[in-house]
Amino acid sequence: MKVFNSIAELHLELETIRLAKKSIGLVPTMGNLHAGHLALLKEALSENDCVISTIFVNPLQFELNEDLQNYPRTIEEDKLKLKKAKCEYLFAPSVKEIYGHNINYQTVIHVPDLSDNYCGRSRPSHFDGVATIVCKLLNIVRPDTAFFGLKDYQQFLIIKKLVSDLALNVDIRGVEIVRDSNGLALSSRNNYLSNDDIVKASNIYRCLQETAGKIRDKNRDFRKIEIWAKAQLSNAGLRPDYFAICESHSLSPANENDTQLVVLTAAYVGSTRLIDNLRVSTDQ
Ligand code: PAJ
Repeated sequence: MKVFNSIAELHLELETIRLAKKSIGLVPTMGNLHAGHLALLKEALSENDCVISTIFVNPLQFELNEDLQNYPRTIEEDKLKLKKAKCEYLFAPSVKEIYGHNINYQTVIHVPDLSDNYCGRSRPSHFDGVATIVCKLLNIVRPDTAFFGLKDYQQFLIIKKLVSDLALNVDIRGVEIVRDSNGLALSSRNNYLSNDDIVKASNIYRCLQETAGKIRDKNRDFRKIEIWAKAQLSNAGLRPDYFAICESHSLSPANENDTQLVVLTAAYVGSTRLIDNLRVSTDQ
């Protein structure tokens, strides 16, 4: 696997790839790779001649009080996993390579409306940081297709909107959520959880499934279901941040005529904040 730390070196390689008319897939990550990340890579490899994985813990998407310093950095293990999964190219730049000498003077992209609610409410600058780094990575690599996990559903919609609004020439693909055997969505932040916490955390998916069951049973009092679900999470020892039944494209609170829904939630287990979602179609 070829590893690039500089944009200039990566550009030289990409020139050769493009001259050979090979299709390019991009898989952006913050590292500490698990089976969820590797599912993106697998899909990217199956659809493209070349895949560039990126590992960059993006300071711009962490709030000041968040876990930037402690975010798990496991680059050597990650490289082994990528090699084993047959990834040929890794871009792992430094913060200086991406943001220069003063990150505070970086041009920042804000995707309005979609960024403002749910995770955006408790993490006000998070999605600006995500939109900015994703736009930069898309401009650096200029892939044909870029792959993102549906686990971060709000992030996925924000990236689709960014690409559409800025007329970026790239296809954005969403990849299904990978879960462990008790339903917990895989996440680098699961590393912070004790065994007890993991049992508690598995209630998130259970609660999403029960909510989906109620919706499929034609229960349309969505606001009442949201209150019920939050109580379920609290009773299981979690601290819900939000639990929302939304229209799946706009993320507006769902109304009874909407047929494509997504149930979004974030909840704390101790001090660890976990997110998950489940899409529900009521079209029969
Ligand atoms: P990170 O959390 O490392 O996730 C990288 C990609 O893997 C994201 O697209 C995320 O949705 C996907 N992913 C994570 N867990 C997953 C799971 N259990 N199943 C399926 N996909 C999963 O998300 C980010 O990094 C950053 O915000 C990034 C987009 C790289 C920008 O910095």
